[in-house]
Amino acid sequence: MRLSLLSAGLLAPLTALAAPATDAAGVPYDYLNKRENLCSLSAPPALCVPNASVTPEETAIRAYKFYRAFIVDGDPRTMFSLIDNVYTQHNPGYRSGPQAIWSLFCAGRKIGTEQSTSHCFVPSTNMSYARYATIDRWRWVDGCVHEHWDQGERFPPADQCAPVPAAAKTP
Ligand SMILES: *[C@@H]1O[C@H](CO)[C@@H](O)[C@H](O)[C@H]1NC(C)=O
Ligand SMILES: *[C@@H]1O[C@H](CO)[C@@H](O)[C@H](O)[C@H]1NC(C)=O
Repeated sequence: MRLSLLSAGLLAPLTALAAPATDAAGVPYDYLNKRENLCSLSAPPALCVPNASVTPEETAIRAYKFYRAFIVDGDPRTMFSLIDNVYTQHNPGYRSGPQAIWSLFCAGRKIGTEQSTSHCFVPSTNMSYARYATIDRWRWVDGCVHEHWDQGERFPPADQCAPVPAAAKTP
């Protein structure tokens, strides 16, 4: 009796503390939520190494992780680990290459939540999209973000967007 009262008294608050907010799929928001300020570094710590064996499924996982890192989490380490070193920038305001955009993202500023923004990966074209104040489009090549557009883009209809693989939501 004593033990069970003790357990009930101790475990209830621990359980309440351990229950994090979850997204619509029941996935806790916090475990991908690793905002990091890396502006003390003059360059991204690691870039994506193109790998022709990366599968479409793996690309879909990476595309979601890129969206999370860029928009929701403010995680420049993960974001730039998914951009290759010959990234082509189609916005005329910036040079190509990940180095040209490092200072924009190094602080890990969060742009929005999953509720206030949208992600889409279209496997037939290897394009991913993010919708927030604007619409970005990226082309994935050999498992890496290789090209970017953000002018006059249209977000694809939902039926073109691949479901986010469950593996994309595990650490
Ligand atoms: C390339 O991708 C394949 C498939 O994901 C993986 O098995 C392999 O280890 C990768 N190679 C390198 C060098 O990372
Ligand atoms: C998309 O990327 C995957 C993985 O790199 C590749 O196998 C596939 O051929 C690509 N598809 C198109 C349409 O480029």
